[in-house]
Amino acid sequence: MAILDKHTILEKNVTLLAVFSLLVVTVGGIVEIAPLFYLENTIEEVDGVRPYSPLELEGRNIYIREGCYVCHSQMVRPMRDEVERYGHYSLAAESMYDHPFQWGSKRTGPDLARVGGRYSDDWHVAHLIDPQSVVPESVMPKYGYLKEKLIEPEYIAEEMATHRIVGVPYSDEMIAEAKADFTAQADPDSDYDALLERYPGAQVRNFDGDPGVSEMDALIAYMQMLGTLVDFSTFTPDASR
Ligand code: HEC
Repeated sequence: MAILDKHTILEKNVTLLAVFSLLVVTVGGIVEIAPLFYLENTIEEVDGVRPYSPLELEGRNIYIREGCYVCHSQMVRPMRDEVERYGHYSLAAESMYDHPFQWGSKRTGPDLARVGGRYSDDWHVAHLIDPQSVVPESVMPKYGYLKEKLIEPEYIAEEMATHRIVGVPYSDEMIAEAKADFTAQADPDSDYDALLERYPGAQVRNFDGDPGVSEMDALIAYMQMLGTLVDFSTFTPDASR
């Protein structure tokens, strides 16, 4: 009872209450914030996660430019219905090189965090040209014009250098070879061994089936890698963090 009596003093004196509240919030704040000054990285590193290849990065730009995020999120939440539908919940590391990130809960269309490898390239081409041809009830707009627009890797090296400023570990070599890697990834006849060394697991194909690198090639290259970098058959969460 004694301690409650003392608490009455606080409850009846508004100045004292404010002072003690401030004290409590300050201690709580320090405990939460101070460690962040000493931790180099708050994201648990996960094997397999790498920066986007130049073609994937360009595809990601097109994804953002076209506003795909208005209807699609890229974040599988750790809830049973989502995990059963989309696969393993998203790890922080999987979007650590995303600037800006594509998390969210706006799902007019399905979450795309693990769409990589779920459909064939042909399916994506057909779906982007005319979504209703493969999913009749779809409200997704048509994006056929992406196939017509051929693109050059004009600014890709500069863009990668910019991403490096915000912490994406692009090496000098990756930036120097950016244009060559960009074109090589969409051409299965190219010499792409060095590309694969720089970006392990990168998929090399003519994604849209037409000659030349189109915006659709880049967009499909990006979608086909989403969620595929981490091998979840061997992944175990690090419980020490
Ligand atoms: C107006 C909302 C809207 C926009 C904008 C939109 N989508 Fe969709 N998307 C949908 C809906 C609804 C579906 C589910 C029906 C279907 O498959 O078409 C879907 C399905 C998809 C699927 C299949 C996902 C799966 O797991 O079955 C992919 C891939 C996709 N969209 C990619 C894109 C891309 C890339 C863009 C931008 C170029 C985009 N979407 C823009 C609404 C949208």
